[in-house]
Amino acid sequence: MFPFRKILFKISGSIAAFKACALISRLVKEGVEVQVVATPSALNFIGAATLEGLTGKKVFSEVFHDGQMMNHIYLDRWSNAVILCPASANAINQMAAGIADDLVKTLFMAHDFTRPYFLVPAMNEKMWAHPATKASVNKLVEYGVRVLSPNSGSLACGEVGEGRMLEPDEIYNLICETGINGKKVLVTAGGTREPIDSVRFIGNTSTGNTAAAIADEIIRSGYEVTFLKSESANSPKGKCNIISFSSFKDLKNKLFKILAKESFEFVIHAAAVSDYSVEKVVSGKIESANELNLRLKRNPKLISEIKKNSKNKRVKLIGFKLTDTEDRSVIDLAVKKIFLQSQADFVVHNDLSLISENEHRGEIIDKDGNKKSFSDKSDLAKKIKRVITEVSI
Ligand SMILES: Cc1cc2nc3c(=O)[nH]c(=O)nc-3n(C[C@H](O)[C@H](O)[C@H](O)COP(=O)(O)O)c2cc1C
Repeated sequence: MFPFRKILFKISGSIAAFKACALISRLVKEGVEVQVVATPSALNFIGAATLEGLTGKKVFSEVFHDGQMMNHIYLDRWSNAVILCPASANAINQMAAGIADDLVKTLFMAHDFTRPYFLVPAMNEKMWAHPATKASVNKLVEYGVRVLSPNSGSLACGEVGEGRMLEPDEIYNLICETGINGKKVLVTAGGTREPIDSVRFIGNTSTGNTAAAIADEIIRSGYEVTFLKSESANSPKGKCNIISFSSFKDLKNKLFKILAKESFEFVIHAAAVSDYSVEKVVSGKIESANELNLRLKRNPKLISEIKKNSKNKRVKLIGFKLTDTEDRSVIDLAVKKIFLQSQADFVVHNDLSLISENEHRGEIIDKDGNKKSFSDKSDLAKKIKRVITEVSI
């Protein structure tokens, strides 16, 4: 699935502009919102009618547009990512020089580089090899632009060489992969077992299945996953680094050790961690002849310690909150408490009433209170993948 939901799709004047239509069409079919901005030259190659027909949105080209004068800022801020495809030699050189004489290039001057900017060049091989173009491309890369370099092949002008724009599917796949490969995610899974004596323990019903489904989804996207799971929990099918824990104490030690050693982009803390441990664990087997009183001590909230103990101080955290109430105000308060205590970036909320063998409904909530609902484990896994990809690319 494409990692961005709102794309500002810019087109400049190249004969490869027709290929942009296939990419736009694929994105729209996937439910991505696409807003096209084309240079006046680009509209000589493909018509606004085609682009509007594909996206369902009016195509913009001019900086001065009645009623929409702030498009040169607003459209950039509206998007999750920008794609300039095709990028002409002229557009590349103008952008590197800070020239802003149409909407495509003015938007570049106003670009907020916390969002990715993908540039897909298409031109004759002499234009691509020109020192001006080379210097401009290097400058744009320094600014933070991601260049999807052209292939070698036969060009529209009849010459053969490097400058041929990538095919729509190649562009799609490269954007999906960019920035993901090798990025590290830690997933905790399953439930702790608090020992009573050498053979008995207090446990919970967590199976680790949800965490395993999430891990599999993100492993498929190219993330490097460390799966910290309880001994009895299920593992992902995909290749990852699996480490097992037993009790709260064991999980705490292993979790903090891993967090201090490796730089994770994301921690998905899905493990069901016991709020209590047995105060005095008996070595050997307690005789069962008599009544037994256990004294439990309160455990600290591990989620509140994750960011503090992380090597990567910019790590993003997803916490989980299971409630047992239909009272929305109680739910909202419980979720708010997690955000406050742990500095979590997202909380996955689910309620016992919405979890059964065939059903697992809930919502992913961000710090601003925006909610994405999910209908089952696999939907949750896909939506978490989308969330982390949007944030980490
Ligand atoms: C038929 C035709 C094909 C062209 N193909 C390309 C191309 O593939 N790449 C390129 O950089 N310029 C190409 N150009 C030249 C650009 O369209 C021209 O430099 C234009 O000023 C670019 O404007 P823009 O960057 O504002 O879109 C082509 C021109 C024509 C007439």
